[in-house]
Amino acid sequence: MEILELAGKVHDETRQGEAFNPLGSDQQSFKKHFYIESYGCAMNFADSEVVASILNAEGFGATKNAEEADLVLINTCSIREKAELTVRKRLTEFRSLKKKKPGMLIGMLGCMAERLKAKLLEEEKLVDLVVGPDAYRSLPALIGEAETGQKAVNVLLSRDETYGDIAPIRLDSNGVCAFVSIMRGCNNMCSFCVVPFTRGRERSRDAYSILTEVEHLFHTGYREVTLLGQNVDSYYWIDESNDETITFAKLLEKVALVSPLLRVRFSTSHPKDITDEVLYTIAKYENICNYIHLPVQSGSNRILQLMNRTYTKEWYIAKVNRIREILPDCGLSTDMITGFCTETEEDHRETYSLMEYCKYDLAYMYFYSERPGTLAEKRYEDDIPEEVKKRRLQEIIALHRIHSLESMQRDVNKTFKVLIEADSKKSEQDWHGRTDHNKVVIFPKEKYALKKGDYVNVFVHSCTAGTLLGKISNE
Ligand code: SAM
Ligand code: SF4
Ligand code: F3S
Repeated sequence: MEILELAGKVHDETRQGEAFNPLGSDQQSFKKHFYIESYGCAMNFADSEVVASILNAEGFGATKNAEEADLVLINTCSIREKAELTVRKRLTEFRSLKKKKPGMLIGMLGCMAERLKAKLLEEEKLVDLVVGPDAYRSLPALIGEAETGQKAVNVLLSRDETYGDIAPIRLDSNGVCAFVSIMRGCNNMCSFCVVPFTRGRERSRDAYSILTEVEHLFHTGYREVTLLGQNVDSYYWIDESNDETITFAKLLEKVALVSPLLRVRFSTSHPKDITDEVLYTIAKYENICNYIHLPVQSGSNRILQLMNRTYTKEWYIAKVNRIREILPDCGLSTDMITGFCTETEEDHRETYSLMEYCKYDLAYMYFYSERPGTLAEKRYEDDIPEEVKKRRLQEIIALHRIHSLESMQRDVNKTFKVLIEADSKKSEQDWHGRTDHNKVVIFPKEKYALKKGDYVNVFVHSCTAGTLLGKISNE
């Protein structure tokens, strides 16, 4: 899990990038300061930027240092038990900070706030504010209540909140890549998953507010946007001015047309929903990255059914074949869970054989963690011993390592268009950038007058398991 720091911390599994101070000197003029630490998925990170915007309007500036903050916020994740344990540990650390600075308020935001509601405030007295993902507009009022010693809780889920009109303040950005939230919530009921309970019903954001945000990003120097949603392919918005239905494919196209110099990525696609129209749109526009994150979760049909994923292994393979037919050069990544309820060695081998077929470029792999309130918790016994779950996880990780190394090696002796994101972490003499396929490339700056946000052709001469190493190519 990568840890990024700026104006607080981001603990995120998908985000890549380096610290860059986006806060500007005017942050010094704020009389009050907030510190925010974010856990979980990119959507949580994007939400923290909405929260920063709401707090800025209330006179709170961001600080990187929790000790000097008047308001300490932790934007939490409930996806696995471990994520919640990490947050609890951090909260106890913040409590000791508060003992030294009694006026300080501590607030819990996000999915864990939604799941536990007032419990952390009333029973455990760990926080002063509890605010769910759809209630951030009420933060100013809640801060006021907490300042007068009242219980400040709002965990109401909404059917229409998208924060579409709020311009996020980029908290931890390299100034080149940004997340743009296009929808919220999830209507799928994967039996292992807590998200439908913590984030509520699915709703799509006004397409024009998305385009306005993207255009603004482009004009302020950003060169890559990642459109975010738990299930982006079910994006659906009706433009009432001309009765136009905007599907995800249409939205992708509109975003791609903002500028050919803007790279467009998206996450996450559900195998049941990704359409040919989306694949053809990716094929049509050079600036939509040839890269799809297509979580499979398991290769066993029996387990997929228990997980309520609504597709079979054969359906998934047919999707992968279709992707490779329309986009022969497409990078593919996935999410997988080992040790789901009743999983046998045979089921596990099915996952193994699916991986052998797909040969993912990147995979996020987890062992099953039962979450309270989910369908699986209610219906099935969490009957696979932890050591078996972990052993199976190690096995798929080992197999994936072989595939990802092969994927890196296939890129050696080729030239790629690379977007420069930052200095390399190891040396200021080198650039850090990424290919269209989302692979990190490190290469010497040499004599060229390039800067962050520029594109450059790089010849890859070698690789490690996670990085391509190259040289600027003049061809
Ligand atoms: N919406 C996406 C999807 O459909 O795949 C991502 C959902 S979730 C934020 C990210 C990943 O966490 C999932 O794809 C799944 O692999 C994993 N995950 C979710 N619930 C889990 C659980 N109870 N135990 C272990 N892993 C889990
Ligand atoms: Fe969870 Fe499934 Fe929704 Fe993804 S699609 S957020 S795994 S319920
Ligand atoms: Fe994301 Fe974790 Fe919530 S993965 S949607 S922050 S439960």
